[in-house]
Amino acid sequence: MLDAHTLNHPDGSAELLRFGTHVLRWQPTGQAHPVLYVSPTAVLDGSKAIRGGIPVCFPWFGPHPTDTDAPSHGRVRTAMGEWGQRHPDRGSVTWTGDTFGLRLAATLSETLHIDVDVVNRSGSPARFELALHSYFAVGGVQQVRVQGLDGLAYLDQLTGTRHQQGAEPVTFAAEFDRIYFGRAEGAAPVRIEDPAWARQIVLNTEGLPSAVVWNPWTEKARRLSDLPDDAWPDFCCVEAGCVGEDAVELAPGAGFSGSLTLAVEAGS
Ligand code: BG6
Repeated sequence: MLDAHTLNHPDGSAELLRFGTHVLRWQPTGQAHPVLYVSPTAVLDGSKAIRGGIPVCFPWFGPHPTDTDAPSHGRVRTAMGEWGQRHPDRGSVTWTGDTFGLRLAATLSETLHIDVDVVNRSGSPARFELALHSYFAVGGVQQVRVQGLDGLAYLDQLTGTRHQQGAEPVTFAAEFDRIYFGRAEGAAPVRIEDPAWARQIVLNTEGLPSAVVWNPWTEKARRLSDLPDDAWPDFCCVEAGCVGEDAVELAPGAGFSGSLTLAVEAGS
């Protein structure tokens, strides 16, 4: 059983884990469905990264650039963090590595607000990537539209090719794995329109210019041992972060702050 802090507020409840500095659940009051998807076969004993909620990819995203033995998506999502402050409606977890320290703080109100702070603890400049690998529960990914990425350059991770998003929203009709770069500060939020559940999940970010959009679809779902074969329509990942060309370099002792605020609105 993982060490958890439950956040309670009249507008909802959420769960923060020490393992992975991970936000596992968010259930707004009055919503028929949770906002965050957790795979029914997710491993929740601390032996593996959790397939669901908001894993933290840090200090690198995807495979390590040079070390093939290093874990995919960094060390944080499988490491045990330390509790920071814990209050009824908020809490924080810290992770300390050789080079970087990371603190994730979650605050619950009518929104779920996540602050991430990074510090370079080393004596040399150091570069990191970060992604809040959010799994969002949806009523059917085939009908989902992701708004707010229009005009952005992206890397299609399935082909290794670069493109630019047109004016149309992102939709899903096959395996999907793209890194969108360079969302401007103050840009319109990213919206996940979910007609099946007549709601939108709204992502407002600060300091997190990348958006990774992922759904495994049929074949990849079959290859993931901690996801049922037929679960791929039930979620999409939209991950706010600093990935690839948006990676951050910190001087010795310097710090970085970013945030993600999630809200749910009615309508599609
Ligand atoms: C996404 C990546 O962020 O995470 C995908 O863009 C990857 O390429 C997915 O397949 C899941 O990764 P993992 O390591 O949790 O299976």
